[in-house]
Amino acid sequence: MCLDFNCYKEGKRYSECMRGVLLAGGTGSRLWPITRAVSKQLMPVFDKPMIYYPLSTLVSAGIPDILIITTGEEQAQFRRLLGDGRQWGLRLSYAVQARPEGIAQAFLIANEFLAGGPAALILGDNIFHGAQLGARLRGHRDLDGGLVFAYPVADPSAYGVVDFDGDGVVRSIEEKPSAPRSRYAVPGLYFYDGDVVKIAGSLRPSTRGELEITSVNEEYLRRGRLRVEVLDRSTAWLDTGTFDSLVAASEYVRVIEQRQGFKIGCVEEAAWRAGLISEDQLRELANPLRRSGYGDYLLRLLDWSQPVPAGSGSGDRP
Ligand code: DAU
Repeated sequence: MCLDFNCYKEGKRYSECMRGVLLAGGTGSRLWPITRAVSKQLMPVFDKPMIYYPLSTLVSAGIPDILIITTGEEQAQFRRLLGDGRQWGLRLSYAVQARPEGIAQAFLIANEFLAGGPAALILGDNIFHGAQLGARLRGHRDLDGGLVFAYPVADPSAYGVVDFDGDGVVRSIEEKPSAPRSRYAVPGLYFYDGDVVKIAGSLRPSTRGELEITSVNEEYLRRGRLRVEVLDRSTAWLDTGTFDSLVAASEYVRVIEQRQGFKIGCVEEAAWRAGLISEDQLRELANPLRRSGYGDYLLRLLDWSQPVPAGSGSGDRP
């Protein structure tokens, strides 16, 4: 049975439900020496390990069944941190990427887990925050083709870049172009239908020796089955691949959390808001975390008995 109660209510079979893949491997070499002994995705971003942020994005998107892909050496640490997810009403499974041979390789590793169904892939170093983002993402679970996002950035050349014609139709999508044709970067959150594993399997490694996620998107585009949705400026998208961006992400989270009193990337809160855990379960999770103040936050959520006003939380209370 699907763990996602809404899918179950809609009478979907388990294989039809979108599953999540969280890619948290790689060498983290752009952050050496700090990531020499500890995975980048376990680094702190202010008050939580980095992986909490993409994980809570998937949970807010209504995806409780998630495969976490890590390197072989680091898997034990992720398991120690996240377990099997049951404490949050999730089903977390794990797989190893032996070598960082490209983001699209995640789909080959996840083949069995996905069982021919649709997939949401999120990169373990990408942070999303925005009003009603969860609700927006939940709208994409019944997907035909592929869906990626476009986000305006000051310097797009470090990313996949999507270019639109005058009517907003996608013209091209390129990986790290030296002369970007637009300001729109493609963030590390991708939704695909059941064709994605086959498409990933048909790719050849790029000149840098990787199976590129951009090649997957190019193939969907070639088939006329790629949708690109622009994330507006009220949504924050941060990645944490460099020393500067890691500190900037921590600073962003600290400023917003201290100003608003709401946390960003809080998996417990996302699970509770999604109805995956009860108030009692949230209380139980809070107790051992009280000394850091994190548990007090979870308890405060229960005290704030009125629904969260639109636009102020990281999810939406059902
Ligand atoms: O952040 C969004 C960008 O992510 C996209 O705009 C690009 O199209 C996409 O290629 C990717 O670019 P990056 O240069 O940021 O990719 P990077 O190699 O840094 O990998 C991103 C994350 O995925 C990183 O946390 C490590 C993980 N990863 C990466 C590769 C290539 C793996 O776990 N395994 C891999 O094989």
